[in-house]
Amino acid sequence: MNFKRICSFLLLAPLSLSQVYASENMDQKIINGSKSNSDSWPFMVALVSKNRDAYNGQFCGASFLGGRYILTAAHCVSQKSAQDLDAVIGISDLSHADVEQQRYGVKEIYVHENYIDVSDGNDIAIVELDRELSYTSVNLADANLRHNLSDGEMLTVMGWGDQDPDPDASRFRSALYQVDIPLVKQSLCPGSVASTDNAFCAGFVSGGYDSCQGDSGGPIVVASGNGYEQLGIVSWGYGCAEAGNYGVYANVGYYSDWISAKTQGFSYRQSEFTGIKSLSRYTHTFNIENNTDQVIRTFSAALQEDSASIVANNCSVLAVNASCAITVSYNVTELDFGKVSLSMLTDHAQTPRVDMTLSYIGVEAASNSMRNTITVSNSGVYSSTNSWVNNSGAITTPVLSNSEFSQLAITGLAAGSLSFDLDVSTEKNYDYFTIYVNGYVYDRLSGIGSGKYKVGLPRDTNTVIFEYKKDSGVSSGQDRVKIMDLIHSDGEESARPDGHGTEKSSGSGGSMNWLTLFCLSILVLARKRLV
Ligand code: ARG
Repeated sequence: MNFKRICSFLLLAPLSLSQVYASENMDQKIINGSKSNSDSWPFMVALVSKNRDAYNGQFCGASFLGGRYILTAAHCVSQKSAQDLDAVIGISDLSHADVEQQRYGVKEIYVHENYIDVSDGNDIAIVELDRELSYTSVNLADANLRHNLSDGEMLTVMGWGDQDPDPDASRFRSALYQVDIPLVKQSLCPGSVASTDNAFCAGFVSGGYDSCQGDSGGPIVVASGNGYEQLGIVSWGYGCAEAGNYGVYANVGYYSDWISAKTQGFSYRQSEFTGIKSLSRYTHTFNIENNTDQVIRTFSAALQEDSASIVANNCSVLAVNASCAITVSYNVTELDFGKVSLSMLTDHAQTPRVDMTLSYIGVEAASNSMRNTITVSNSGVYSSTNSWVNNSGAITTPVLSNSEFSQLAITGLAAGSLSFDLDVSTEKNYDYFTIYVNGYVYDRLSGIGSGKYKVGLPRDTNTVIFEYKKDSGVSSGQDRVKIMDLIHSDGEESARPDGHGTEKSSGSGGSMNWLTLFCLSILVLARKRLV
C-alpha cells in the first residue's frame, strides 16, 4: 500500500523527537532482525498506553531492573504522566493470551534532570512500578565496560518497533525481534555525540540492520560470561538502517550513579500538571515516600517562584517506609502556563537532592460564542492569553503580533479521541501550533497545510489545550490556525498496521482515521528524520 499517494495534502515542519513521540502513532521495529525465542530476554519490557491493548498501545521498550524499577529512554516518557502508561514485563508476543496478566501500572516517572532533546543526550529515565515484582532483571554494564570493548564488538538490540526501513511506510509485528549490530568508533557518531561519553553508536557502514521507531527505550546488550549486560538504551538515529548513519544509544555505564540514585526507594512525583486554574491563590501538597532502608533527613526545602511559599513541611525526618508532605501556596496571576518548583536536600548519600515541579494553566471562561461553537458534551471551554475566536463556525486564532500567543482549553473530555479538520498556515519552523493533552505536548505543527486530525485521549477525563505561538519576528502564510468540525468519540484511538497488511483494531476507530493521522505524521517525520 502506498501511503504517500493518500497523504499528499499536508506539509508540516520538523519536530523534535519527544514531540513527535508524544503522539505515539508513528511508532515503528527492528530492521532485518529475527524473531526472538520467547525466553531469550526475560527482562524485556513493553511500554503500553493506558486503555489500549498491548499490541496497538506499545510505544517504547524498556528493561526490568528488579524490585519496582524499569529503565527506558527519557523521550519515551517525558511527555507522559504515570497514569497514562503500563509496563508489560517478560512477554515476547504482545498478542499472547497472558499479556494482560503481566501488565502493571506505573507509580512515578523520573526523567533525567538535564534531558532536553535526544540529540543533546541524557535520554534516560527510570519508571517506578506500582508494586515490587520478581521477574528476571537485566544486568547493567558498569562505568568501564564501554571503554573496554573494541570497535566492531557485536551487540544485540531488541524491540517491537518498525520493521520497515522506508520512512514513508511501517510494519509492526506482535513478536519481539532482535538484531546483531557492531559497536562503532565514537567519532562515527552523528554531530555532537562524536565527542561525548554519554552515548555510543552501533550499526554497519552499509546500513541494512538497525533498531527503529518503537524500539526506543529498549536495551542493547553485549554477551558477557554466560549471560548479557545492558550496554545502552535505544535513543535515536537519522532514519533507520541507512548506509552511513548509525543508531545512537544512551551509554548506561555513564549513568550508573544516576540510575542508582533513582532506584534507592525514594519516591516522589517529579512533575505533575494540575490542570486549568482561574486566577486565584491555591495550595498543593507534594508527597514523598521513603522506601529505602535508612532513615532520611531532609533540609533546605525551597521554591523557585517568589510568589509561592511553603505552608507546611513534616519531612525533616522520614522513617523507613514512612511518607511525609510539603504543602505550598501559590498564586495564579497570569493567563498562561505556569509552574512551581520545589527542591530540597537530603542526607541520603545516593539521593542528595530532590526536585519536584507542578504546572498549570491560568484561564478564564471562554466567550459565549466560543462555547457555542464547541459542542462536545460535558466539556468546559476556557481561554487563556489572546482567546481564539469563532470565525463563522471555525475556531480560529486571533490576529497576533510577534512573540504573542493564543491559547484555548477544553476540559472534561471522556476517554476516546477528539477529531477535527485542521488548517495551519504559519511560518514554518518558527511559529508553532501545539496540541497539549493533559498538560503534556502531544504534537507540534508548523508550516502550511490542512487535513483531518485526531487526538487520542487516554484518561477517563482529559484536558486538551490548543496553542498558537509566534516567534519574535517575520510571519508567513496566513499566520493563523483554524479548527473545524470538532467531534469527540469514545473508544480506541487507532490501530497500527501489522506485518500482514491487515488491520488489528480492537476499537471503533477504523483504518481511515489511522491513515489520516499517519499521513500527518509521516510528513512531519519525513522532514526531520532524526528519530
Ligand atoms: N527514536 C526511536 C524511537 O523512539 C528509535 C530510533 C532508533 N533509530 C535508529 N536508527 N537506530 O523508537
